[in-house]
Amino acid sequence: MEPSPNQVSDCGLRRVTDQGLDTLSLEMDATGVGTLRNVLSPDEIYMSSAYVQRELDKHQRQMFIYAGHTWLDESPLAAFTDSPDLLRILDGLYQRGTGRQAAEKIIVPALRVLSGDLGLKASNLFHYDTYVVTALLPLTIPNCPNEPCGDLVMYPNLRKIRSSSMVNLAEKAFMQNSLTRRALASPVVRRTFGARVVLLQPGNMYFFWGMRSLHANEACLPQSVRSTVLFHFVNPHSGGILDNFREWAHHRNSAPSKGGFQSIYNP
Ligand SMILES: [Fe+2]
Repeated sequence: MEPSPNQVSDCGLRRVTDQGLDTLSLEMDATGVGTLRNVLSPDEIYMSSAYVQRELDKHQRQMFIYAGHTWLDESPLAAFTDSPDLLRILDGLYQRGTGRQAAEKIIVPALRVLSGDLGLKASNLFHYDTYVVTALLPLTIPNCPNEPCGDLVMYPNLRKIRSSSMVNLAEKAFMQNSLTRRALASPVVRRTFGARVVLLQPGNMYFFWGMRSLHANEACLPQSVRSTVLFHFVNPHSGGILDNFREWAHHRNSAPSKGGFQSIYNP
């Protein structure tokens, strides 16, 4: 079927071969991030950015997050909802990273748009993802001269995937608090522990081991817009008592929003 002129195509993912997956996986192991270039064309980036701007107007130009599939189905990026190529890539990376088959082959998408004072507050919130594989697709990145771009900062592959949900949560609690986060954002700690800064280019797709790598975005100006789509794959602790508690605690202080929640969301 021909793609609609108002819809983005996922055909940029079709060219990833098994050998390409090997390369991406090796890059993720060695440097923290594997990059697939030009997944979106310039026209598609423009179309997606226009969608973000329209949605931002509905949120008083302040940061918002859409989680789940509802927003994706209704957006110009709907082709990614049930993209067999995206599933093949994430599943292939999961297999290469863990040596196992994924028990549940479900992609969890989110749109994260930083703007306004709320967007500024969402910087340097270092965290481990709940999911093993993370794909990040930037749509809008600030790019005026001397303007902070909200780069991705990462301490790559700091830990292994935890089979124990208790250990996983304990490590998250230890690292994801204001004191530790302040230290992780400081230039001395970043230099000492080899933090990597990833310059994001709209239309490229970036893959990393989200559960193993501490990561955050740097600050942007309140008047800037930084928007990214995240695709998460495999929560090994899904459905466990501790994971249900984590979900409850996460949602308790979150304002309801379209298809998910509006407050800061760091899966
Ligand atoms: Fe994350």
